[in-house]
Amino acid sequence: NGGGQDAKNLRVKLVLLGDSGVGKSCIVLRFVRGQFDPTSKVTVGASFLSQTIALQDSTTVKFEIWDTAGQERYAALAPLYYRGAAVAVVVYDITSPESFSKAQYWVKELQKHGSPEIVLALVGNKADLHEKREVAVQDGIDYAEKNGMFFIETSAKTADNINELFEEIAKRLP
Ligand code: GTP
Ligand code: MG
Repeated sequence: NGGGQDAKNLRVKLVLLGDSGVGKSCIVLRFVRGQFDPTSKVTVGASFLSQTIALQDSTTVKFEIWDTAGQERYAALAPLYYRGAAVAVVVYDITSPESFSKAQYWVKELQKHGSPEIVLALVGNKADLHEKREVAVQDGIDYAEKNGMFFIETSAKTADNINELFEEIAKRLP
């Protein structure tokens, strides 16, 4: 490395939050294993996976991913996972306005109780279901902009924008 630019190896704690069924576990499975499971089971408590990516400047980023359970009965556990997280990814389903409202609830909770430096991403998943869309792209864009968040629509099913989501997060790390 004659240029004097040191390659960095970063470790990043990331938490996924959002309503049950929006596709959090499918996003993680797609990112970590390149697979999609249409019969994905609801998450109980939370699950942990990690995945390392390399950026163009040869920095590597190891994501330590906490995939939380979206069912209401687990809501009280969420602080255990978002406390100390460098990144929170709040997911909704573009076919479900209720899940978009729930995403806004999580953003407010993170703004109140998360780390002040937390990087927030808003993700509209199931973008492949465009015929059933009930949340406009612009609504996601506007909400994210107002709250200083990164925004992207993804499909865990087709893999559309899944790697991009994590690459864009990596670029926004402090
Ligand atoms: P909890 O664990 O209960 O919080 O739910 P979750 O957010 O982890 O949802 P999960 O990843 O288990 O996905 C629920 C179901 O949604 C899956 O079984 C898939 O059938 C479907 N699904 C997830 N992602 C997509 C997607 O991008 N497109 C489509 N069409 N279906 C998806
Ligand atoms: Mg899950």
